[in-house]
Amino acid sequence: MKKREFLKRAAALTSLAFLPSPVWSLDRKKIRIAQIGVGGMGSQDLNFISSHSQVKIVGLCDVDSLALDNVKKIYPNALLYSDYRIMLKEMENQIDAVQISTPDHTHAPAAIMAMNLNKHVYCQKPLTHNPKEARSMIRIAQERNLITQMGIQVHSFYDYKLATILIKEGIIGKVNKVRAWTNGNSGYDGTVPIGNDPIPESLDWNLWLGTSNERPYKEGYYHPSQWRKVIDYGCGTLGDMGVHILDTPYNALELDFPITVKNECREFNGFSFPTKSTVTYNFPGTAYTTDNMTLVWTDGQFPLTEEDLILPQQDKLPIQGSMFIGEKGKLLLPHFMQEPKLIVKGEYKKIDISKYPEALKLRKPYGDYNEDAKVHYHEFVDACLGKTDCSTPFSYSGRLTEVVLLGVIAGRFPNRLLKWDKENFRFEESEVNQFLGSKYRIF
Ligand SMILES: NC(=O)c1ccc[n+]([C@@H]2O[C@H](COP(=O)([O-])OP(=O)(O)OC[C@H]3O[C@@H](n4cnc5c(N)ncnc54)[C@H](O)[C@@H]3O)[C@@H](O)[C@H]2O)c1
Repeated sequence: MKKREFLKRAAALTSLAFLPSPVWSLDRKKIRIAQIGVGGMGSQDLNFISSHSQVKIVGLCDVDSLALDNVKKIYPNALLYSDYRIMLKEMENQIDAVQISTPDHTHAPAAIMAMNLNKHVYCQKPLTHNPKEARSMIRIAQERNLITQMGIQVHSFYDYKLATILIKEGIIGKVNKVRAWTNGNSGYDGTVPIGNDPIPESLDWNLWLGTSNERPYKEGYYHPSQWRKVIDYGCGTLGDMGVHILDTPYNALELDFPITVKNECREFNGFSFPTKSTVTYNFPGTAYTTDNMTLVWTDGQFPLTEEDLILPQQDKLPIQGSMFIGEKGKLLLPHFMQEPKLIVKGEYKKIDISKYPEALKLRKPYGDYNEDAKVHYHEFVDACLGKTDCSTPFSYSGRLTEVVLLGVIAGRFPNRLLKWDKENFRFEESEVNQFLGSKYRIF
């Protein structure tokens, strides 16, 4: 949203019974942010967002008091909470925006509560834990005219923007296939843990579980960071890395929802994601693809030796990335902070950037992750201030997340071709539809 449109919208909103927070913030010249989840990625998220000169961190919430201890000295004026529901209620009039960096199963419950209080939201990836939540997040953000951004910071990096321009300009013609992969692994093929361990004194396990079902605490399986391997809390490797690596193909090719999806992996064990998956999506054609577009995601299997991934000069394939395969050649986009490489008839070809005016306008990379990553966070703050638009609002990132999560759900039905009906939000295979959403526990 541009500033003029923002001011017009703000003026219109003053006629409503409530005064939305951006209006107050404009007077104050600072966006007041509360952070939910301050350990792990949350501590980086805090650093990045607070590096903007017009941000004030006013609230910090974590269910583990050790995580709060680590950051509270840096923000001595912020109020501290363990329950985001209490923080949002008590601080409703002191917060303009919320940043959410919790495990995936808590993204939507926390974000939806914040959005219903008219707070702008920066939410970590994947946006949600299931597709129903993604559709709700898109709808609420739109209905309430909120500024939203998903935490896929590489979306704002030079190399990804450059690849998007090159693909749209037709450097390899229409694309008929994309391969995307990571050697990363957020899966677990071992046995389901039995029994329980003492809950650490610093952790409120009931709040950590949040809306998910009750489960005994087990050391080393869930909190911190291991939860991404477990179906009740995370989204496996595809949910973890797919949102980053599939972002450029999804954006550059202007893909919609897939028509079919198939996940080749081990049998579903009811507890955790597989350590190896190959997920194949078929998409309807777009202006940048042939009539049908196939996207193949591979995780946990490296090196990959298929012909479409063989590089010239016997170069080694990057451990994570994507390969666009088009009518006139291939474009390799390593993940991340490396420029795309053009391959034509088995040879590398120099990319003459001067032929692409849009590419010449791109801000040059700092070449330092910490500097380049800030751009995405600052874009969100600037959008809250009415100065610019967000590049990964929920209207975009919710759709990308849905695509990724359809592949995750397909892992419950290994090796089966599932047909997706985007209009009616259902799979043709009716037994799959129960996994599009989940029942929330009252906690
Ligand atoms: N964009 C990126 O590059 C990137 C990188 C890593 C992680 N992430 C994302 O960040 C999120 C967190 O991942 P992580 O690896 O830091 O996990 P983590 O388990 O290491 O940290 C999560 C933090 O949130 C806290 N927490 C858990 N439930 C909470 C609740 N209900 N309320 C408040 N705090 C709560 C935990 O105590 C912990 O401090 C995930 O969504 C993940 O996908 C993004």
